Amino acid sequence: MLKNIFPNKTRKYLLRIIKLDMEKLFEVYLKIFPLKIIKYHNYRIEQFIKNVSKQYDSEGKRMIDIGAENSPYKKYFKNLRYFTQDIQQNKNQTIDFIGDINEGLPDIKDASFDYILCTQVLEHLREPHKAFKEFYRMLKPGGKLFLTTHMCYDAHMIPYDYFRFTKYGLKYLGESNGFKLEHIAPHGGIFQVIARIFDTLLIKLFFERESFFYYLYIVIFTIPIFIFNSLCYLLDFLDREKTMTLNYECIYRKKFN
Ligand SMILES: C[S@@+](CC[C@H](N)C(=O)[O-])C[C@H]1O[C@@H](n2cnc3c(N)ncnc32)[C@H](O)[C@@H]1O
Repeated sequence: MLKNIFPNKTRKYLLRIIKLDMEKLFEVYLKIFPLKIIKYHNYRIEQFIKNVSKQYDSEGKRMIDIGAENSPYKKYFKNLRYFTQDIQQNKNQTIDFIGDINEGLPDIKDASFDYILCTQVLEHLREPHKAFKEFYRMLKPGGKLFLTTHMCYDAHMIPYDYFRFTKYGLKYLGESNGFKLEHIAPHGGIFQVIARIFDTLLIKLFFERESFFYYLYIVIFTIPIFIFNSLCYLLDFLDREKTMTLNYECIYRKKFN
Protein backbone atom coordinates (compact mmCIF):
# COMPACT_ATOMS: atom_id res chain seq x y z
CA MET A 1 0.00 0.00 0.00
CA LEU A 2 2.82 2.39 0.98
CA LYS A 3 4.44 1.68 -2.35
CA ASN A 4 1.59 3.45 -4.11
CA ILE A 5 2.13 6.84 -2.45
CA PHE A 6 4.89 7.82 -4.91
CA PRO A 7 5.13 6.77 -8.52
CA ASN A 8 7.85 4.23 -9.26
CA LYS A 9 10.33 6.70 -10.82
CA THR A 10 9.99 9.27 -8.00
CA ARG A 11 10.37 6.52 -5.42
CA LYS A 12 13.58 5.24 -7.05
CA TYR A 13 14.98 8.78 -7.22
CA LEU A 14 14.13 9.55 -3.59
CA LEU A 15 15.57 6.21 -2.50
CA ARG A 16 18.83 6.99 -4.28
CA ILE A 17 19.18 10.36 -2.53
CA ILE A 18 18.19 8.96 0.84
CA LYS A 19 20.57 6.00 0.49
CA LEU A 20 23.47 8.33 -0.28
CA ASP A 21 22.66 10.55 2.62
CA MET A 22 21.98 7.59 4.91
CA GLU A 23 25.64 6.60 4.82
CA LYS A 24 26.67 10.09 5.93
CA LEU A 25 23.75 10.28 8.31
CA PHE A 26 24.79 6.97 9.86
CA GLU A 27 28.30 8.32 10.51
CA VAL A 28 26.80 11.36 12.26
CA TYR A 29 24.30 9.09 14.01
CA LEU A 30 27.16 7.00 15.46
CA LYS A 31 28.82 10.18 16.75
CA ILE A 32 25.65 11.40 18.44
CA PHE A 33 24.29 8.06 19.63
CA PRO A 34 27.06 5.81 20.93
CA LEU A 35 27.46 2.33 19.38
CA LYS A 36 27.26 0.96 22.94
CA ILE A 37 23.56 1.91 23.00
CA ILE A 38 22.33 1.60 19.44
CA LYS A 39 24.27 -1.47 18.27
CA TYR A 40 25.29 -3.16 21.47
CA HIS A 41 26.64 -6.44 20.08
CA ASN A 42 28.78 -4.61 17.47
CA TYR A 43 30.19 -2.55 20.32
CA ARG A 44 30.95 -5.71 22.33
CA ILE A 45 32.65 -7.44 19.39
CA GLU A 46 34.83 -4.36 18.89
CA GLN A 47 35.75 -4.31 22.60
CA PHE A 48 36.58 -8.03 22.50
CA ILE A 49 38.87 -7.60 19.49
CA LYS A 50 40.58 -4.57 21.06
CA ASN A 51 41.34 -6.66 24.16
CA VAL A 52 42.61 -9.53 22.01
CA SER A 53 44.89 -7.17 20.11
CA LYS A 54 46.31 -5.69 23.35
CA GLN A 55 47.33 -9.17 24.45
CA TYR A 56 48.26 -10.95 21.22
CA ASP A 57 49.33 -8.40 18.59
CA SER A 58 53.06 -9.13 18.64
CA GLU A 59 55.71 -9.15 15.95
CA GLY A 60 56.54 -12.52 14.44
CA LYS A 61 53.03 -13.93 14.95
CA ARG A 62 50.69 -14.90 12.10
CA MET A 63 46.92 -14.45 12.20
CA ILE A 64 44.27 -15.41 9.65
CA ASP A 65 40.83 -13.79 9.59
CA ILE A 66 38.37 -16.46 8.38
CA GLY A 67 35.25 -15.08 6.63
CA ALA A 68 36.97 -11.69 6.75
CA GLU A 69 34.77 -9.90 4.20
CA ASN A 70 36.20 -6.32 4.48
CA SER A 71 38.45 -7.19 7.47
CA PRO A 72 36.91 -4.58 9.81
CA TYR A 73 39.31 -5.49 12.65
CA LYS A 74 42.59 -5.50 10.71
CA LYS A 75 43.28 -1.97 12.02
CA TYR A 76 43.77 -3.39 15.52
CA PHE A 77 46.60 -5.70 14.46
CA LYS A 78 49.56 -3.56 13.40
CA ASN A 79 52.42 -5.77 14.57
CA LEU A 80 51.59 -9.33 13.59
CA ARG A 81 51.23 -10.61 9.98
CA TYR A 82 47.52 -10.49 9.15
CA PHE A 83 46.04 -12.72 6.41
CA THR A 84 42.45 -12.86 5.18
CA GLN A 85 40.22 -15.67 3.94
CA ASP A 86 36.66 -15.73 2.59
CA ILE A 87 34.43 -17.78 0.31
CA GLN A 88 34.48 -14.88 -2.17
CA GLN A 89 36.73 -11.97 -3.10
CA ASN A 90 35.70 -8.53 -1.81
CA LYS A 91 35.38 -5.21 -3.71
CA ASN A 92 38.88 -4.09 -2.74
CA GLN A 93 40.42 -7.46 -3.68
CA THR A 94 42.01 -7.84 -0.24
CA ILE A 95 41.17 -11.51 0.42
CA ASP A 96 44.37 -13.59 0.42
CA PHE A 97 42.79 -17.08 0.42
CA ILE A 98 39.48 -17.75 -1.30
CA GLY A 99 37.64 -20.97 -0.49
CA ASP A 100 34.91 -22.68 1.47
CA ILE A 101 36.04 -23.44 5.00
CA ASN A 102 33.51 -26.32 5.05
CA GLU A 103 35.34 -27.99 2.16
CA GLY A 104 38.83 -27.40 3.60
CA LEU A 105 41.42 -24.89 2.45
CA PRO A 106 44.17 -26.82 0.65
CA ASP A 107 46.23 -23.66 -0.05
CA ILE A 108 46.81 -23.23 3.68
CA LYS A 109 49.50 -25.45 5.19
CA ASP A 110 49.06 -27.44 8.41
CA ALA A 111 50.05 -25.60 11.62
CA SER A 112 50.85 -22.39 9.73
CA PHE A 113 49.11 -19.83 11.98
CA ASP A 114 49.46 -18.73 15.60
CA TYR A 115 45.99 -17.21 15.69
CA ILE A 116 42.65 -17.47 13.91
CA LEU A 117 40.08 -14.70 14.02
CA CYS A 118 36.53 -15.68 13.04
CA THR A 119 33.87 -13.05 13.74
CA GLN A 120 30.17 -13.57 12.90
CA VAL A 121 30.86 -16.40 10.44
CA LEU A 122 30.08 -19.65 12.30
CA GLU A 123 26.29 -19.21 11.97
CA HIS A 124 26.73 -19.04 8.18
CA LEU A 125 28.54 -22.37 7.89
CA ARG A 126 26.64 -25.50 6.89
CA GLU A 127 29.18 -27.71 8.67
CA PRO A 128 30.52 -25.97 11.79
CA HIS A 129 32.19 -29.24 12.92
CA LYS A 130 34.21 -29.38 9.71
CA ALA A 131 35.20 -25.74 10.16
CA PHE A 132 36.54 -26.51 13.65
CA LYS A 133 38.55 -29.45 12.22
CA GLU A 134 40.03 -27.04 9.67
CA PHE A 135 40.80 -24.45 12.37
CA TYR A 136 42.60 -27.20 14.29
CA ARG A 137 44.64 -28.21 11.25
CA MET A 138 45.71 -24.63 10.40
CA LEU A 139 46.75 -23.65 13.93
CA LYS A 140 50.09 -24.33 15.56
CA PRO A 141 49.90 -26.38 18.79
CA GLY A 142 48.93 -23.97 21.57
CA GLY A 143 47.54 -21.55 18.94
CA LYS A 144 44.38 -19.57 19.69
CA LEU A 145 41.04 -19.18 17.97
CA PHE A 146 39.17 -15.93 18.67
CA LEU A 147 35.55 -16.38 17.67
CA THR A 148 32.23 -14.55 17.95
CA THR A 149 28.81 -15.79 16.87
CA HIS A 150 25.10 -15.22 17.42
CA MET A 151 22.74 -16.85 19.85
CA CYS A 152 19.57 -14.69 19.38
CA TYR A 153 19.44 -12.68 16.20
CA ASP A 154 17.25 -12.46 13.13
CA ALA A 155 18.27 -14.42 10.02
CA HIS A 156 20.61 -12.43 7.76
CA MET A 157 22.62 -13.08 4.59
CA ILE A 158 19.61 -15.18 3.67
CA PRO A 159 19.62 -18.06 2.69
CA TYR A 160 23.19 -18.54 4.01
CA ASP A 161 22.26 -18.45 7.67
CA TYR A 162 22.16 -21.93 9.20
CA PHE A 163 22.63 -21.99 12.99
CA ARG A 164 22.48 -20.23 16.37
CA PHE A 165 24.70 -21.32 19.27
CA THR A 166 24.43 -21.82 23.02
CA LYS A 167 27.38 -21.70 25.39
CA TYR A 168 27.23 -25.51 25.66
CA GLY A 169 27.21 -26.02 21.89
CA LEU A 170 30.25 -23.77 21.52
CA LYS A 171 32.10 -25.67 24.25
CA TYR A 172 31.21 -29.00 22.64
CA LEU A 173 32.26 -27.90 19.15
CA GLY A 174 35.68 -26.86 20.47
CA GLU A 175 36.31 -29.76 22.81
CA SER A 176 35.25 -32.44 20.33
CA ASN A 177 37.79 -31.02 17.87
CA GLY A 178 40.91 -30.78 20.03
CA PHE A 179 40.43 -27.33 21.60
CA LYS A 180 40.10 -26.09 25.15
CA LEU A 181 37.53 -23.33 25.59
CA GLU A 182 39.51 -20.84 27.70
CA HIS A 183 37.02 -17.98 27.72
CA ILE A 184 33.38 -17.47 26.80
CA ALA A 185 31.19 -14.42 27.52
CA PRO A 186 27.70 -13.37 26.44
CA HIS A 187 27.12 -10.05 24.68
CA GLY A 188 24.17 -8.76 26.67
CA GLY A 189 21.22 -10.45 28.34
CA ILE A 190 17.49 -10.52 27.87
CA PHE A 191 17.08 -6.71 27.85
CA GLN A 192 19.50 -6.41 24.93
CA VAL A 193 17.48 -9.06 23.09
CA ILE A 194 14.29 -7.07 23.80
CA ALA A 195 16.00 -3.91 22.50
CA ARG A 196 16.90 -5.70 19.26
CA ILE A 197 13.28 -6.88 18.86
CA PHE A 198 11.95 -3.36 19.52
CA ASP A 199 14.41 -1.77 17.06
CA THR A 200 13.28 -3.98 14.19
CA LEU A 201 9.67 -4.79 15.06
CA LEU A 202 7.85 -2.14 13.01
CA ILE A 203 10.20 -2.61 10.09
CA LYS A 204 9.46 -6.33 10.05
CA LEU A 205 5.73 -5.78 10.35
CA PHE A 206 5.27 -3.00 7.83
CA PHE A 207 8.28 -2.09 5.70
CA GLU A 208 10.43 -3.67 3.07
CA ARG A 209 14.09 -3.66 4.09
CA GLU A 210 16.09 -0.85 2.44
CA SER A 211 12.96 0.68 0.96
CA PHE A 212 12.27 4.42 1.14
CA PHE A 213 9.98 4.01 4.16
CA TYR A 214 12.46 1.77 5.90
CA TYR A 215 14.97 4.65 5.96
CA LEU A 216 12.26 7.16 6.79
CA TYR A 217 11.23 4.99 9.75
CA ILE A 218 14.81 4.88 11.05
CA VAL A 219 15.15 8.68 10.82
CA ILE A 220 11.80 9.37 12.51
CA PHE A 221 12.13 6.71 15.19
CA THR A 222 15.78 7.32 16.08
CA ILE A 223 14.99 9.19 19.28
CA PRO A 224 12.43 6.68 20.71
CA ILE A 225 14.75 3.80 19.70
CA PHE A 226 17.67 5.47 21.41
CA ILE A 227 15.66 6.11 24.60
CA PHE A 228 14.35 2.54 24.71
CA ASN A 229 17.79 1.07 24.01
CA SER A 230 19.33 3.22 26.77
CA LEU A 231 16.73 1.88 29.18
CA CYS A 232 17.48 -1.72 28.15
CA TYR A 233 21.22 -1.02 28.49
CA LEU A 234 20.68 0.17 32.09
CA LEU A 235 18.36 -2.70 33.02
CA ASP A 236 20.43 -5.49 31.49
CA PHE A 237 22.42 -6.05 34.72
CA LEU A 238 19.19 -7.48 36.24
CA ASP A 239 19.58 -10.54 34.02
CA ARG A 240 22.26 -12.33 35.99
CA GLU A 241 22.28 -15.58 34.00
CA LYS A 242 22.34 -14.11 30.49
CA THR A 243 21.34 -17.47 29.01
CA MET A 244 19.47 -15.53 26.31
CA THR A 245 22.01 -13.28 24.64
CA LEU A 246 22.64 -11.62 21.30
CA ASN A 247 26.11 -13.02 20.79
CA TYR A 248 29.02 -14.91 22.35
CA GLU A 249 32.75 -14.18 22.32
CA CYS A 250 35.10 -17.16 22.75
CA ILE A 251 38.79 -17.89 23.05
CA TYR A 252 39.84 -21.48 22.29
CA ARG A 253 43.33 -22.93 22.59
CA LYS A 254 44.51 -25.79 20.39
CA LYS A 255 45.64 -28.53 22.75
CA PHE A 256 49.11 -30.03 22.44
CA ASN A 257 48.85 -33.71 21.41
C1 LIG B 1 28.43 -11.72 8.50
S1 LIG B 1 29.87 -11.72 7.50
C2 LIG B 1 31.12 -11.38 8.71
C3 LIG B 1 32.29 -10.64 8.12
C4 LIG B 1 33.39 -10.22 9.10
N1 LIG B 1 34.03 -11.37 9.70
C5 LIG B 1 32.84 -9.30 10.17
O1 LIG B 1 32.88 -9.63 11.36
O2 LIG B 1 32.37 -8.20 9.81
C6 LIG B 1 30.11 -13.45 7.18
C7 LIG B 1 31.26 -13.73 6.22
O3 LIG B 1 31.49 -15.14 6.15
C8 LIG B 1 31.79 -15.50 4.82
N2 LIG B 1 31.48 -16.92 4.63
C9 LIG B 1 30.26 -17.49 4.60
N3 LIG B 1 30.36 -18.81 4.40
C10 LIG B 1 31.68 -19.09 4.29
C11 LIG B 1 32.41 -20.28 4.05
N4 LIG B 1 31.79 -21.43 3.88
N5 LIG B 1 33.77 -20.20 4.00
C12 LIG B 1 34.39 -19.01 4.18
N6 LIG B 1 33.75 -17.85 4.41
C13 LIG B 1 32.40 -17.88 4.45
C14 LIG B 1 30.89 -14.57 4.00
O4 LIG B 1 31.33 -14.46 2.66
C15 LIG B 1 30.98 -13.27 4.78
O5 LIG B 1 32.04 -12.47 4.34
